Amino acid sequence: MNPQIKKRLLRTALLSLAALAVGAVIAFAQIAAERNPSAAETPAVMKIAGADIGGPFTLEGTNEKTVTEKNFEGKFKLIYFGFTYCPAICPTELQKITKVLKRMEAEKPDLATRLQPLFITVDPERDTPQVVGEYVKLFHPRLIGLTGSPEQIETVKKSYRIFSAKVQQEGMNDYTVDHSSFIYLMDPENELAGIYRTEDNVDMIFDDVRKQMIAIDTP
Ligand code: NI
Repeated sequence: MNPQIKKRLLRTALLSLAALAVGAVIAFAQIAAERNPSAAETPAVMKIAGADIGGPFTLEGTNEKTVTEKNFEGKFKLIYFGFTYCPAICPTELQKITKVLKRMEAEKPDLATRLQPLFITVDPERDTPQVVGEYVKLFHPRLIGLTGSPEQIETVKKSYRIFSAKVQQEGMNDYTVDHSSFIYLMDPENELAGIYRTEDNVDMIFDDVRKQMIAIDTP
């Protein structure tokens, strides 16, 4: 087999495996919800308990200052991992986050102020604090872009179960980055409260975020 094709197949397989792992967690949560009818009333943080996605992080903000989860004390977070050179999926998912936030600001301003959108790069080599800072401005003024040292990015990727791999483009000096694509909703305790996939639309995400925020706020 052509080594290029072999490499591409291997990458596709790895990405599928990473998606399967998170997919299994979602499926498990859905099965748990069906078995327990009252689970519909319980926040997803309960349903996805044991998923072990998320946790504290230490990264670099657009002003080159250290940013940790403590900077967002008491806030829910919508977190997306990607890279600024991404041609299609990252912009689409960040557009969705922007639309969810705008709708929240219009319909539930009290919740909107407690919802912090974050974009974390998986390409710290090119996505410097300045590059990330300029990029997030294209979406929503409240979207915060985060980067860090390669070690910091590896650590946060691991705790949020994000797979990414640099891919050298044939005949070009540039590279692209294959990466898993999930929007995570984290609660103020940094526990996972929701996972949204590329096939989930703005209405679905908005409804679920609002539901989870209200459920977790009023136990
Ligand atoms: Ni992307």
